Amino acid sequence: MTSRTMKLIAFMQAQNCSNYVGSWRSPASVPDFLTPAYYQRIARTLEDACFDMAFFDDRLAMPDIYGGSADLAVEHGIRTVKMDPTIVLTAMAAVTTHLGLGATASTTYFEPFDVARRFMTLDQMTGGRIAWNIVTSLNSAEANNFGKAAHLDHDRRYDRADEFVQIVRDFWTAWDPDALVIDKQAGRFADPAKVHRTTYHGDFFDVDGTFTVPQSPQGHPVLLQAGQSGRGLAFAGRWAEVVFTAFSNIEKGAQTSAAIREAVAAAGRDPEKVAVTPAVGVIVAETEELAKAKEKIIRGHARQEDGLVLLCETLNVDFSGRPVDKPFADEELAAMSWHGLRDRVIATSGTPNPSVADFVTFSGRGTIDEGRVFRGTPSQVADQMQEWFDTCCDGFVLSASTLPGSYEDFARLVVPELQRRDLVKTEYAGTTLRENLGLDKPSRPAATATGVTGP
Ligand SMILES: Cc1cc2nc3c(=O)[nH]c(=O)nc-3n(C[C@H](O)[C@H](O)[C@H](O)COP(=O)(O)O)c2cc1C
Repeated sequence: MTSRTMKLIAFMQAQNCSNYVGSWRSPASVPDFLTPAYYQRIARTLEDACFDMAFFDDRLAMPDIYGGSADLAVEHGIRTVKMDPTIVLTAMAAVTTHLGLGATASTTYFEPFDVARRFMTLDQMTGGRIAWNIVTSLNSAEANNFGKAAHLDHDRRYDRADEFVQIVRDFWTAWDPDALVIDKQAGRFADPAKVHRTTYHGDFFDVDGTFTVPQSPQGHPVLLQAGQSGRGLAFAGRWAEVVFTAFSNIEKGAQTSAAIREAVAAAGRDPEKVAVTPAVGVIVAETEELAKAKEKIIRGHARQEDGLVLLCETLNVDFSGRPVDKPFADEELAAMSWHGLRDRVIATSGTPNPSVADFVTFSGRGTIDEGRVFRGTPSQVADQMQEWFDTCCDGFVLSASTLPGSYEDFARLVVPELQRRDLVKTEYAGTTLRENLGLDKPSRPAATATGVTGP
């Protein structure tokens, strides 16, 4: 029996579709995505199957870069709805006791105090089950919603994010774990020597303040991140405890995993303490024939405009009116927002200057090939997952092609098979997300040159 078990994370959206936009058109998808019952049903399924976490992605605008309008997104339901994920996950928390719950929040458009307080409050309210997916956001539509004319440049976004996360972490550890006294007789609430002031002076932020939420049972929320570029990897190396990634085969996976672990080691942290989790899809059924039929139906809901609209949204470039075979010049490629996605298309298309057609074909955006799909019977899917787990990752971020069907199929068919192989736990190790992921409880960081946490 192996003691190493797969981390299972559900890739959720507080919106009208899954990562696969066509999912909302599926007869198998339930349309009540604006109700708590929809998310609670999924939460119960995931907890019964011993998933480590449900995590919500986020975007702060509709996709309106393609053609300079949101009309296509509205008409076709292309990630049109985006509710606040931190609020949606409280509905899931209310019906579960062990499932970890992650939400995305932007370091480019939010403020450190707000993020620190919201996530620590959630962590208290769930007994220590929360994670924060740190993103720097992707496009000018998001900038416009926050009253900014343009999206910050790629590497500057990460510079701001470094400062942002340091401040958040300093806030989160401002209260020592034993700071609360609550002695009614003596009239002593907390020990002032154990509640620290947070001061930070950098290029983006000047903070000198007091944090208002004590530490949670797991210390503070788990940090998730998905940097893929050189700058993004350095950022992940410094901060991430679980790294989201995307690759399409074992060789690429081994390279990606090694690069992530190198970045973690370069930042002076233990590479074995960081989990690498690629995003994958699963199409499973009782027989191969049924799985194939299911995939055919699912694929039938894809539309080409979904891919175009989503590519423009993530790359922050308007493809409309451009000849589809015209290669992008080097300077156009340099200006694209998501470097990891751009570089994957360059690598898989085999051309250093891909065209719109190459991006549509090789990105998989808008189809179920986004990332990678494991398909077949329960044992065939388990074989594929086991092969990746043994060679290039610590678990998976599972995206859905219908909701709630994909998670119900996976829980009913694949999880028991993985449990029979001792690859997935049959009960939770503890009550906090850190305990279940095997992560250490964080301690108060040492003072640095720019961020000086006060006595
Ligand atoms: C599994 C996964 C989930 C992601 N979720 C989000 C998200 O919710 N919001 C967002 O703005 N970006 C999201 N991203 C994008 C990353 O935050 C990041 O911008 C992207 O990986 C590009 O980083 P790079 O420029 O360093 O390559 C996600 C990426 C992956 C692989």
